[in-house]
Amino acid sequence: MPKNALRDSNSVSFRMSESDQSRGVPMPPIQKPAPKGKIPIQLPAPPESLGRKYLKRAIADRKSRRSFTENPISLEELSLLLWATQGVRDRTNPNRIYRNVPSAGNRHATETYLAVFLVEGLAKGLYRYLPADHALVPVSRPQRLEEKVSEACMGQRFAGSAAVTFIWSVVRYRTEWRYPGASIKILALDVGHVCQNLYLACEAIGCGTCAIAAYDQEKADALLGLDGDDEFVIYIAPVGKAED
Ligand SMILES: Cc1cc2nc3c(=O)[nH]c(=O)nc-3n(C[C@H](O)[C@H](O)[C@H](O)COP(=O)(O)O)c2cc1C
Repeated sequence: MPKNALRDSNSVSFRMSESDQSRGVPMPPIQKPAPKGKIPIQLPAPPESLGRKYLKRAIADRKSRRSFTENPISLEELSLLLWATQGVRDRTNPNRIYRNVPSAGNRHATETYLAVFLVEGLAKGLYRYLPADHALVPVSRPQRLEEKVSEACMGQRFAGSAAVTFIWSVVRYRTEWRYPGASIKILALDVGHVCQNLYLACEAIGCGTCAIAAYDQEKADALLGLDGDDEFVIYIAPVGKAED
């Protein structure tokens, strides 16, 4: 039998007395800063009245959707989806901002990248979300982006034929600073909450999504320019206008 790494990580994870935090190492930044020379694109505030479904209907209608209409999504809709998945709920204390999703110890190791194909007002390309600023920072504009995203998802073509594909990475030290050795469990649990909010927010605004864990780690990390160790892709979710 292989070693039960998930179960064994628990006692290690929560031995906080052995953490960098308990040794007085300063807390890592709550989000990756915008790279020098890249000007963030401010997103509109998520409109209050965008959702058309009550929560019970959104939960009942939720399903994994793998084909979409060719209609673009608006910047307001994208803003709502980013707000639902990583938006800030409470910034009273700038060192401890709370978001619309839970995270063990409020560490929020997740970073959100977007492969934008069909979003009104945004050029095709890769972007990263800055939750504390509710802004997007351009990352790169690779040629053949549709193909590259599909290839990174092991040939799952719908990943490259969506309006926008969410690609979540984790900066694992943000969690390990408090919970050393925790990554195997906490990082995966955290991003599950993020993706579920994406499913429900999509459902509420006539969009659809499908979680993707079957991706090629090397290709996905390379697409975003990640080192694959300190930061690596953990989950992917294409989004488009729902067909029904
Ligand atoms: C962790 C996780 C990984 C998944 N990975 C994929 C995937 O790589 N490709 C895919 O088409 N669906 C994927 N799915 C979607 C599941 O196939 C789907 O949730 C399941 O068939 C149940 O359907 P439903 O979401 O419509 O209820 C994934 C779902 C989860 C929760």
